[in-house]
Amino acid sequence: MRLPERMTAIRIREPGPPSVLEPVESVLPQIGPAQVLIRVAAAGVNRPDLLQRQGHYPPPPGASPIPGLEVAGEIAALGSEVAGWQVGDAVCALLAGGGYAQFAAAPAVQCLPVPAGLTLQQAAILPETFFTVWLNVFQRAGLQPGESILVHGGASGIGTTAILLASAFGARVFTTAGTAEKCAACVALGAARASNYRHVDFVAAGHEATHGRGVDVILDMVGGEYVARNVAAAATDGRIALIAVQGGAQAQVDLRPNLTKRLKIMGATLRPQSSAAKGRLAQDLLNEVWPLFADRRLAPPPIHARFALEAAADAHALMESGTHIGKLVLLVRHPAT
Ligand SMILES: NC(=O)c1ccc[n+]([C@@H]2O[C@H](COP(=O)([O-])OP(=O)(O)OC[C@H]3O[C@@H](n4cnc5c(N)ncnc54)[C@H](OP(=O)(O)O)[C@@H]3O)[C@@H](O)[C@H]2O)c1
Repeated sequence: MRLPERMTAIRIREPGPPSVLEPVESVLPQIGPAQVLIRVAAAGVNRPDLLQRQGHYPPPPGASPIPGLEVAGEIAALGSEVAGWQVGDAVCALLAGGGYAQFAAAPAVQCLPVPAGLTLQQAAILPETFFTVWLNVFQRAGLQPGESILVHGGASGIGTTAILLASAFGARVFTTAGTAEKCAACVALGAARASNYRHVDFVAAGHEATHGRGVDVILDMVGGEYVARNVAAAATDGRIALIAVQGGAQAQVDLRPNLTKRLKIMGATLRPQSSAAKGRLAQDLLNEVWPLFADRRLAPPPIHARFALEAAADAHALMESGTHIGKLVLLVRHPAT
């Protein structure tokens, strides 16, 4: 494939509002021996990108300062040590940064084939939320078929992914969300019950739905005062996976139920983990989850809106408004070659 010398990418001019995102001309990323260069067709937008733009979530050492944690496209070049991929392969990839661009470098182990039946746009919005949900819900919290899970923020990119995956693996899903429209969307995706947390106490709803048993697994992106309420909502031997603290980083908790109910409260972030660890997650997703797309037992999360790469600021403004359901995607154009 003939590569251009320069590309369009989105730069964060300085920490600030969406308007600090601006298209710039840049050189193509250099790939290391274990990396591939992807000619990007589409890039997913995730809430951590907003935190990075605001200056609260700096890229890990060695990562591109260009935002963007996931892309899909075509492999344009291979590092000298890469095996198993060919130039021209259609892939999606989890990145530590650099996705808002016409070309992105990705560790080969963090690439996955575009699942059967999915478009490049649909594949671009999978990696960040699928790696995160698989790590936290299935590996760390060990969700089992027949168990119940409470997903907070059910209409988010992470939440819609968790509803789809947990349902596909035979769990009973309860969710919270902040509007009636979001709750209806969660049910349409497979949740057995969705509670509008502005009007309904999710602890009472969880106990009612489980006949007083409590929920087996909780995926929490809120933290703050949810921590004590999660403990109250959990079943004996329950697992609580914390992935963000949007509602506050401090919490006051009565620790006694942790002992009597034998709870596990855990937390994790995906981005700083090693490429080898992300590669192991990619293999698990390839073996356990990708076949479900081919069988139509699993659908991708809904795409709420599409934007041109150059309009990344508009995508951030929409995500900041909190009105979206599912994912936002940037579409990347290339001059005819
Ligand atoms: N740990 C990790 O590795 C990891 C990886 C990826 C993402 N994350 C985190 O996961 C979260 C979701 O990411 P995303 O990309 O899916 O974002 P998103 O689509 O923008 O969704 C954010 C969701 O958070 C909910 N929310 C925000 N503040 C809330 C509050 N105080 N109480 C209840 N709900 C609240 C909103 O729900 P309502 O509109 O219904 O209120 C919204 O649906 C973000 O915090 C992100 O930083 C963590």
